[in-house]
Order: sequence, then C-alpha cells, then structure tokens
Amino acid sequence: MDLTPRPRVLTTESGAPVADNQHSASAGPAGPLLIQDQQLLEKLARFNRERIPERVVHARGAGAYGYFEVTADVTGHTRAAFLSEPGKRTEVVARFSAVTSSLGSADATRDIRGVAARFYTEEGNYDMVGNNTPIFFIRDPMKFPDLIHSQKRDPYTGTVEPENVFDFLAHTPEATHQVTWLYGDRGIPADYRHMDIYSSHAFQWENAEGVRSWVKYHFKSDQGIANLHSEQARRVAGEQPDSHQQDLLKAIEAGDFPSWTLYVQVMPESDADGYRFNPFDLTKVWPHADYPLIEVGRMVLDRNPEDVFTEIEQVACNPANFVPGIGPSPDKMLQGRLFAYADAHRYRLGVNNMQLGVNRPRGTTADNYGRDGFMRADTPGPHRGRARDRNYEPNSFGGPVQTDRPLVGGGEVAGRVGSHATPSHREDDDYRQAGDLYRLMSQDERARLATNLAAPLAAIDRTDIVERFIAHLRAADEEYGERVEQAVAATRG
Ligand code: HEM
Repeated sequence: MDLTPRPRVLTTESGAPVADNQHSASAGPAGPLLIQDQQLLEKLARFNRERIPERVVHARGAGAYGYFEVTADVTGHTRAAFLSEPGKRTEVVARFSAVTSSLGSADATRDIRGVAARFYTEEGNYDMVGNNTPIFFIRDPMKFPDLIHSQKRDPYTGTVEPENVFDFLAHTPEATHQVTWLYGDRGIPADYRHMDIYSSHAFQWENAEGVRSWVKYHFKSDQGIANLHSEQARRVAGEQPDSHQQDLLKAIEAGDFPSWTLYVQVMPESDADGYRFNPFDLTKVWPHADYPLIEVGRMVLDRNPEDVFTEIEQVACNPANFVPGIGPSPDKMLQGRLFAYADAHRYRLGVNNMQLGVNRPRGTTADNYGRDGFMRADTPGPHRGRARDRNYEPNSFGGPVQTDRPLVGGGEVAGRVGSHATPSHREDDDYRQAGDLYRLMSQDERARLATNLAAPLAAIDRTDIVERFIAHLRAADEEYGERVEQAVAATRG
C-alpha cells in the first residue's frame, strides 16, 4: 500500500478542483484573457475584498487566548458565576491595542494602550474593555469624536499635527491629569506584557443578597512594568515596527505565558453621593488609602491565535456585555460607550458579528428572537432538538423566556433633565490629581516629562495655544508649568 500523503487539492470557493493556479486562460499563448476563467476572476475579486474597515480607534493591536482563574473569595461583592469560587477557571481572549494608531502603524509610540479582555462565562460573554491608564482625557462622551479627531491625521495635511493635539488639550482642562500620565514615563510601554490594565470606569457589582458596590478593576502585570524613553522608542519604532505584537507572540510561543493579577477597589454603594469628588468622573483615580486593592484572580495568556484576522481583527468586545452580578455605573463616559461599541461592530463586521467564532458565547448558547440580516450563518430551530422555533415572544411553543431578574439592581437617580456641566461634589476640580501625580515624580521623571511635552509644543507656531495649554499645567502645579515653559523655550532655541 502506498502511504505517501496525497497533496491537498486546491479548489475554488465552491469546492471544484482547480487545474491551473499559475497561468490565466487565454485565447492562444499570447492572446487576451477569457472571462470563462473562473479561477482568475474569483481570485482577483476575492483579493479586492480582503480589507474591512479598521477600528475607528484602537486599530493597531494584537491578541491571544488564555484563562482567568479566581484566587480569592469575592462572593461577598458579586454573584457573577465565573467569580464564584477560588480555583474556578474561565476561558479568555484578550486584545491589546494603541488608541490613535492606524492599522499598520509602529507599536512603540506615545499613546494610551487599550486592553479588551473577554471572559467566556457560563452566563454569557463578559467583556472588560479597559486601558493601561486608570484615567482618561475627558469625562463626557460628547467630546470623544473631537478628542480623537485632534489626535488622528489632519484632513488637510494628512498627518498628525501637534497643533491639533494641543489645541484640543488647551481647551480641555480636565485632560491635564491624563496628559501628565501620558507624557510621563509610562507613556510608551516597552510591550504589552509589561504594563498594568485598568477598567478605569467604576462598575456596579451586586452579591447574592442584593448588596451593591461600585468597583474599579486593576490588572497588575506579573511581569512588572517596563517602558521606553522617547529616544529608545524612536529607534524601536524604526527598526522593529511590530515590536509589541512580536513580543506577545514570541513570549507565548516560548511558553513564557504573560499574566496579570486582578484586584478591585470596592466602594460601598452609599459612599458615592457623599464622596469628596464625583467617583464616576473618569479623569480621577480613587485613592487606595480610601479604597484599597482587593485580590480577585489571575489572567494568563497561553495560546496564540491561529489566524490573526478571524480571531483578533474580528473580535467585537463591548463594554455593554455584562453578566449577572456585574453592571454599569452612571459614569457618563461609560454610558456613551455602552452605545458606541455594538454600533461600531455592526458597521465594521455586520449585524451578525456575534456569530463569528471568536464572538459567539462559549460557556453558554445565545438564544433569542433576533433574526436574519446579512451573513446570518447559524440555522435556528430544529438542530436544538425541538420541533421548530417561533420568531416572536411570548409564544406557546417553549421559546426562550425572560428571567425577571436584572443583572444588577441599578441605582437611584433624581434630577432635572439638561446638559449639565456643573460639578456636584466639593473636590470636582480639574487639576488637583494632576498636580498630585506631578509632585509624586522624582526630579528625573519631571525633567523627562517636561522634555517629552516640549518636543511637540515647540513645533507649534501658534504661541497662544501653547500658553493656554501651559496655563493648565501651572494650575496643577506652578513649578510644573514653569518647567515646561522653560523646556519649550530651550527646545525652540
Ligand atoms: C475601541 C468608542 C472610550 C477602550 C473602541 C471602538 C469604538 C470606541 C467605536 C472601536 C470598536 C470596534 O470597532 O471594535 C469609544 C467611545 C469612548 C471610548 C465613544 C468614550 C466615550 C474608551 C475608554 C476606554 C476604551 C475610556 C478604556 C477605559 C477601548 C479599547 C478598544 C476600544 C480597549 C479596542 C477594543 C478591541 O480591542 O477590540 N472605542 N471609546 N475606550 N476602546 Fe473605546
């Protein structure tokens, strides 16, 4: 018997064997090509359709699979089933990214890094879509498209313009804290493994007794923290543009699995109103002295995707994907995000994006009355052992029914409808925490921060923009503003 493996036969999309994949069919050896050559037509047409819209933000990224293991009892805070007991493991996919870079950009840039971690729980997909910083530039989603426009390519010059970046920031005092973080030492992580991950927002947790808390997540890198200084980053970005992606891939291939220990800060529900600043303001951290870190578990990434496009580019993580025991807080930014992601997914991937392999729930099955749409791939009905599914509810045929139990209890609200800008807590200012962060820095760190800011600021011709921006730094700490002003003058020469 001949045991030589037979070569796999190349086929068309419809499965017919292909006779020639090297030569187009022509009328005679030198003649024009024939429209009957389906292999050629299909190949060229298919190729033209390989690209889908890149994410409007966080386009550049990389990801991997792994698991989350509970290491401490947190049932006092949440009834989420995947957190129900120490030792419990849940499959995870995580995608890391940079916010403003386009697909194909270099990894080693000064930018916020995003991390979307999906937990395939038995109660549905739970998506934690966070960043490597505990804060953000703005506190109202109305400003998000403008923030991003100012940091992406200018419509006229086609390049990123420091003038646009700092013009927006000069008009956005609440960004001072995030700016101080981003232009400081943590602004360019060495790779995705050596950085912490934060939910940044508060979420609501509810335990089995209905006791509710506000919770912020902190994933601390077990690898430690490693960052690049500006000049190192310039070299790495030039010599090894895919540095972060390669680092993650190679580490996992080598069995050096990256992990993060998850801690939460827990604020009792009733603390929120009387706290000294609005605890749902995304431009502020909760001091650990008030709300210390409580251990929850460990996220380990131990498997690379086999196909980056289908498993990572097509992942559709959504901060609105909650499970029983976890829900949203009134953070206005989060509330805006609860809309934005599924909407982006429907545009980028289509209405049936949740049927793609990486998006489908794995710990349970989605079962509802949503129907049809472009590219629906599953067949509802008899395959689940039932006679036939009805597409309406309520029905008399055993279709899925509601539980009557909300995922979390929500919260009480009162107040007049309006576009409110007025602070409601006594320390709702824009500068205090930015100044605190600056004052925590060593002299060397302060010097690097000033140099990092001075480089783009010195490239801006409009001195009024620079002055307006530096006024925010001064308001955070007089010496901070002074130092940056001098650094700009020195850079301009
Ligand atoms: C991606 C909107 C703020 C973290 C995205 C996407 C949109 C979006 C439309 C692309 C989604 C996709 O195509 O799959 C917004 C809006 C925001 C906001 C409107 C403010 C109102 C934030 C904040 C964080 C964050 C504060 C972190 C705390 C991420 C991450 C991704 C992302 C990690 C990439 C997800 C992935 O890897 O698939 N955002 N975003 N975003 N955003 Fe936001």
